[in-house]
Amino acid sequence: MSTGNICVCYQVTEDELVGWIRRGVTTVEGLGEHSGAGQGCGDCHEMLEELIEDFAEGGPGNGTSLAVSRALG
Ligand code: FES
Repeated sequence: MSTGNICVCYQVTEDELVGWIRRGVTTVEGLGEHSGAGQGCGDCHEMLEELIEDFAEGGPGNGTSLAVSRALG
């Protein structure tokens, strides 16, 4: 099972990548620098781009932040 690994070459998990994206790393190159993902065969680049699209804007993270900031008033 390798559901969690986006980058197989460097065994970088989706959780780790989403963490970086939420901290403002929104390029494939940036994710590579921080996590190592995408520095090998390059097969995962498409998935990295999809993750960036999903979580950098309008993703679940933004919704949560909004809810949290509302809750905190
Ligand atoms: S799977 Fe990410 S570089 Fe090979």
